[in-house]
Amino acid sequence: MDRRSFMRSALAAGAAVAALPRFAAAARTAPLPPMTVYKSASCGCCHNWVEHARTSGFTVKTIDTEDLPNVKRELGVPSSLQSCHTVVVGNYLIEGHVPAADVKRMLTEKPAIRGIAVPGMPIGAPGMEQGPVSGYQKYDVIAFTAQGRTSVFARH
Ligand code: CU
Ligand code: CU
Repeated sequence: MDRRSFMRSALAAGAAVAALPRFAAAARTAPLPPMTVYKSASCGCCHNWVEHARTSGFTVKTIDTEDLPNVKRELGVPSSLQSCHTVVVGNYLIEGHVPAADVKRMLTEKPAIRGIAVPGMPIGAPGMEQGPVSGYQKYDVIAFTAQGRTSVFARH
């Protein structure tokens, strides 16, 4: 390779490398829709989950209510999937201690579902990290449709 063609290929490689971080930055900074979290004022694990969501980059508004069963019914959370807090984010619902990474994947992939849930309150899920790690439970994130169809969205 002579010096001119070496310089040309070096420049081309440099341009390709320089273009990559710009694309990556654009993907990373795609704005997250704000969240509204319905929770009980006295629930510590709900507060911990809100902190998890904020630490993960979400803007979170909280609404304390003692009428969560009605909120869940009106929004359409299947009764079999209920947990403590209920969240509206974009066009989706989140029920319970769903990891923020799964919420972000849902927002990116935009599946035709109503939302995702972690039923109950498994020890070790985000906001439920009390006690020794050896006591953490395995749990699934369940996708549900407006018609009540369910499927596994993620396993932890
Ligand atoms: Cu909880
Ligand atoms: Cu909660």
